[in-house]
Amino acid sequence: MTMTTPTVANVLHTAYQKSVASYWNNERHPVNLLLGDIDGLYHHHYGIGDYDPSVLKGPEDTRDDRIIAEMHRLETTQAKVLLDHLGDISSSDHLLDAGCGRGGTSLMAHQRFGAQVDGVSISEQQVQFANDQARQRGVADKVRFHFRNMLDTGFETGSLRGIWNNESTMYVDLFELFAEHARQLEFGGRYVCITGCYNDVTGGRSRAVSRIDEHYICNIHPRSDYFRALAANNLIPINVIDLTADTIPYWELRAKSSVATGIEQPFLTAYREGSFHYLLIAADRI
Ligand SMILES: C[S@@+](CC[C@H](N)C(=O)[O-])C[C@H]1O[C@@H](n2cnc3c(N)ncnc32)[C@H](O)[C@@H]1O
Repeated sequence: MTMTTPTVANVLHTAYQKSVASYWNNERHPVNLLLGDIDGLYHHHYGIGDYDPSVLKGPEDTRDDRIIAEMHRLETTQAKVLLDHLGDISSSDHLLDAGCGRGGTSLMAHQRFGAQVDGVSISEQQVQFANDQARQRGVADKVRFHFRNMLDTGFETGSLRGIWNNESTMYVDLFELFAEHARQLEFGGRYVCITGCYNDVTGGRSRAVSRIDEHYICNIHPRSDYFRALAANNLIPINVIDLTADTIPYWELRAKSSVATGIEQPFLTAYREGSFHYLLIAADRI
């Protein structure tokens, strides 16, 4: 790695990035922490798959625990599906989790492939938290988290076999992001993202999508931008999966839980009206 010591001044380049970093540095919401406490995999992404309706039945005093455990299962399933699309990864490969949050997907990737995984986030709190998790699991020599900007990571050119963004592309310009990913990936290396994007077919940003942007201080991109920016950077899609129908049950369950944050209805509206998709895209670096 060639980067100088990361400081707020050389990692956070814009006022916008400072506000996003501040959001994540101060984020302590139970919807993330209580779920992660279950098995030490802390996710900041949504879930996919049907929920088990029996969690809503049974004793009232343990109902919420059952819902939380089920939501965590669906979020972990989402990360598994992302990792399924990384292709053949060996223990000698090097992977990057771009916008890594508290590191859940990185830890799962190392557990599955044995590979070295580096995660970057512009939140120093998240990086510290994630490194603590790696230490507690005894994998800190293979899974490392860094206070770095994914638009300018400092990792060597052509050094990575795989890179993913798990719900972190909506904070950056896609052309800049994919240029940096293309620089770091070796020839034939794989890129995977799971993201929410708005639907060019139904028009511009719907009201529900705008509410999501405002809630998370993000800038949801149109679907078309992903494919333009990938093509412009020698990243050629091999798989595109619309996960929208698969994520709706998660949001329905979350709306019934004690950890709902109020953003559930805009997500459900946006998905149901068709103005927003939940997409997985996998692409190869040529
Ligand atoms: C919604 S969270 C997703 C976290 C993680 N990928 C997961 O699935 O749990 C978005 C993450 O993107 C990170 N992020 C936003 N802009 C970034 C940037 N320019 N460079 C690095 N990380 C960034 C945030 O700090 C946060 O960790």
